[in-house]
Amino acid sequence: MAKRQMKHILVIGAAGQIGSELTMALRQRFGNDNVVATGRKTKPSDIVFESGPFEYMDVTNKESLKKVIETYEIDTMYNMAAILSAVGEKNPQLCWNVNINGLIHLLDCAKEYDMTRVFIPSSIAVFGPQTPKENTPQETILKPTTMYGVSKVAGELLGDYYVKKFGLDVRGMRYPGIISSETLPGGGTTDYAVEIFYEAIQNKKYTCFVKETTRLPMMYMPDCIKATLDLMDADFNKLKHHCDYNVTAMSFSAGELAKEITKHIPEFTCTYKPDFRQDIADSWPQSIDDSCAREEWNWKHSFDLSKMTKDMIQALGKRHEQGKLYG
Ligand code: SER
Repeated sequence: MAKRQMKHILVIGAAGQIGSELTMALRQRFGNDNVVATGRKTKPSDIVFESGPFEYMDVTNKESLKKVIETYEIDTMYNMAAILSAVGEKNPQLCWNVNINGLIHLLDCAKEYDMTRVFIPSSIAVFGPQTPKENTPQETILKPTTMYGVSKVAGELLGDYYVKKFGLDVRGMRYPGIISSETLPGGGTTDYAVEIFYEAIQNKKYTCFVKETTRLPMMYMPDCIKATLDLMDADFNKLKHHCDYNVTAMSFSAGELAKEITKHIPEFTCTYKPDFRQDIADSWPQSIDDSCAREEWNWKHSFDLSKMTKDMIQALGKRHEQGKLYG
């Protein structure tokens, strides 16, 4: 499968939570000018905007995608553009359009321009109420109840189809909730696990939109970036799966997270006021079996709840002292 050297990389959705940090990790590794960042509307962080090429581009518009690919002679793509679960329930049509029509454009372009490799992330949202909730296996029932989940199941199948039918090298994993300190997440159900830190630092209190007992699989951003790069580095011939790897690092309830934060900020209090996102959270697994990823491409996480919490509070605390908590 190895074609050309990976050199000209496109990160779609580089203004987002994962895309922004992934862009910087890729620029560090492959050189600033070799990693083109794109965003739909939102201006990315200063560091993404200033450290290398950036273009405004909407993945639902195939011609604009082709233009960027041709201008920069792109041979590798990371599709980090997505409408997440909570926003997707408010606007299912948009969710389908961006997550599926955008994805097809991208896969077709990868084929047309004979690209080396494509990364298309999936999510724990592919699972649904009938999926086993504990230690969810790699191969299991995929009957999600959100449009985001529906689009991600279809995305995994599409990616696998392009591998089998056209010999394209497409890879992806089911991200759990991602916690990070650089760019805020945009409209997911697991956003509370990030918001809680900002509110704890700034106001010493937080009203959580899921119940205290709600437990979901999670991962800290350094592990998320590592997982993404490791899967993209893996030997294609060793991969038995392509676009649907289960990955996880930790699972905790909202109450356990709040308790961990009080170890650092004793006056912090958390109250719980579930909204429509509770139903979404309840439809997802509490913990994930990611042994296929661990066996096939040596996935290994570094951050657990206590290490992640300490690091988040340190990073956000420092920014708060400088008066720049929100960047
Ligand atoms: N973080 C995502 C969401 O909550 C799940 O992949 O929508």
